Amino acid sequence: MGFPKDFLWGGATAANQCEGGIFEGGRGLANVDVCPAGPDRSAVLAGHREMLAMDGSHRYPAAEAVDMYHHFREDIRLFGEMGFKTYRLSISWTRIFPEGDETEPNEEGLRFYEEIFKECRKYGIRPLVTICHFDCPIGLIRKVGGWRSREMIGHYLRLCEVLMKRYRDYVTYWLTFNEINMILHAPFLGAGLVFAEGEDEERTKYQAAHHELIASALATHMAHEINPENRVGCMFAAGSAYPFSCRPEDVWEALLTDQGNYFFVDVQARGYYPSYAVKRLRKKGIFPRMEPGDEDILKRDTVDFISFSYYNSRCIAAPGSATEEAEGNLFRSVKNPYLKFSEWGWPIDPMGLRITLNQVYDRYQKPLFVVENGLGAQDVPDENGRVEDDYRIDYLREHIRAMKAAVEEDGVELMGYTSWGCLDLVSASSGEMKKRYGFIYVDKQDDGSGTYARSKKKSFDWYRKVIASNGEML
Ligand code: BG6
Repeated sequence: MGFPKDFLWGGATAANQCEGGIFEGGRGLANVDVCPAGPDRSAVLAGHREMLAMDGSHRYPAAEAVDMYHHFREDIRLFGEMGFKTYRLSISWTRIFPEGDETEPNEEGLRFYEEIFKECRKYGIRPLVTICHFDCPIGLIRKVGGWRSREMIGHYLRLCEVLMKRYRDYVTYWLTFNEINMILHAPFLGAGLVFAEGEDEERTKYQAAHHELIASALATHMAHEINPENRVGCMFAAGSAYPFSCRPEDVWEALLTDQGNYFFVDVQARGYYPSYAVKRLRKKGIFPRMEPGDEDILKRDTVDFISFSYYNSRCIAAPGSATEEAEGNLFRSVKNPYLKFSEWGWPIDPMGLRITLNQVYDRYQKPLFVVENGLGAQDVPDENGRVEDDYRIDYLREHIRAMKAAVEEDGVELMGYTSWGCLDLVSASSGEMKKRYGFIYVDKQDDGSGTYARSKKKSFDWYRKVIASNGEML
């Protein structure tokens, strides 16, 4: 009983939120670099304000982030000390192809990740690589408009081929796109989309989504050809939608919300556009343009496993049912009166993880992987410089318990768990440093000050014991 003995415990990061060093190693500029901290961030993420270069009047937190570019050996040693079985990281696309359309990759960028993988191997950590965690080269946004263009598929596949061949001996777990459904909520982040005045944004988003879905299927095919041992997963921002009440209109609205997110996984895991999407997109006149052969590509290359991030459930009301909105992961929902909330207003719902795991497994019957989960909180070091983050331990403990119940009692097939931001890093939605998720504190503050020194929080030792006991000592 309990978690399977080869359960992949670990932590997760994304290149743009931890590496920094954006002008080093021949790296080019990407969308993720030019998302500023502060009030303009949300318009930029939404593609409503064009920002394709840095200007003097904003602060760009990804530029230095927590400088993992220079600290990765120390960081991976700490992951090893916690006993990580896996480390989920992403590749910065522009370290490998600085403009995005080069024919030859940048050797310095490739060497950087090779060093990371070698370091992981020292500690018996298996990398889980997100090929694209929100990155889109600015060069490609300028030239083809990001994922609105079908040309992106070729550029993305060139990246995949280089990575899968070069790291064949190091990596067998791959995720094609991080939170692919984020394209609907933060399209500049999800797909490098900047909208023109009066543009039909929904049409563009679904067209771009189609290109990503085709790219994902082709990348899955390629991965299996390059190394039959490769296992490829999709990744979506999960969190079941609860109806605000048993009023049928609320239940219906919640169902629509879930379908909106499952749409992507339906395609990636089942291999075709679900009938509800075909009907609704056609009715709105925004069904994406397809090329001959697209349906076959989707059908042939479905994913091996399904991964997702889970921070919270969502509570959904039909118009006229509730008024108070809740925060949470760039998705709109209303306040669930039965839940507590984080300092950033995100609902805290461990049981929702069990519900989500069951719903996703019921729907697809493929192995699942929780690749993000955690509590963003302001950690204040005490007079000894120590962070006593009992609140984080409580959050994680309850979520791991819920996951355990899903495995032990409900029979969900679960491959692993990588908590988000195992090392403090920059927040994706707010660009803040003070919203911390890590077991490892990084001395870097929102005003840019700090030494980048790493120190262990109380949760570090707690998580080490969780892993050592395979989830028994919680
Ligand atoms: C997910 C992303 O949406 O949530 C991460 O994949 C992100 O990149 C994480 O950091 C937590 O969100 P935030 O906004 O608190 O950083």
